Amino acid sequence: MTTHFEFRQFFDRDTWTYSYLLFDPLSKEGILIDPVFEQVQRDLQTLRELKIKLKYTLETHVHADHITGARALREQTGAKIVYGAAAQVACADVLAQDGETLTFGSTNLRALATPGHTNGCTSYLVENLVFTGDALLIRGCGRTDFQQGNPETLYHSIHTQLFSLPESTKLYPGHDYKGVMSSSIGEEKAFNPRLGQNKSLEEFTQIMNQLHLDYPKKLDVALPANLNCGTA
Ligand SMILES: [Fe+2]
Repeated sequence: MTTHFEFRQFFDRDTWTYSYLLFDPLSKEGILIDPVFEQVQRDLQTLRELKIKLKYTLETHVHADHITGARALREQTGAKIVYGAAAQVACADVLAQDGETLTFGSTNLRALATPGHTNGCTSYLVENLVFTGDALLIRGCGRTDFQQGNPETLYHSIHTQLFSLPESTKLYPGHDYKGVMSSSIGEEKAFNPRLGQNKSLEEFTQIMNQLHLDYPKKLDVALPANLNCGTA
């Protein structure tokens, strides 16, 4: 399949967060998925250098580990802020419903509701690329022990919305803690230790309930800030 858009992957080393810039090479219309507040100057510089007109910033969810750059980017560029509808974020310009299509240049992007890590988790499908936030990670998945997390909901989301995509679909997550930058749906169906090899809901739930993870360092700061679309 020929893609009609350009694509850049960015990394925030303090929080291990990936952000993704996609843009149309002709119209220069672009979108940024999961921008990080501390990296807004870097992102703005890239936009300036490549002469990109930022149409949307898209949040995969209300993050607990970093503050979004969405509000700052809206002030600087006018980019509209997109959250999944179930995130119920009042400051968003677009609350994307499951299956809703947004466009940049001549490219369509489809929002896929993938709750379970949080209520409002949304993945974004652009041609044969899927941006999964913390719903499905490379050889892992988002935790389900706070922010309305629920293993059963996450299992259902991953199976109906993500594992149902063609196996060749490239997967770009919200984070990776081992330096891996991308995967594919087929790879995760085969090798994801929590979900691959057709793991049952019971097996998955047991794995998730035995993780006993630390409380996220920035949660008390990041959650209220992100419900406000980030810091100005
Ligand atoms: Fe998260």
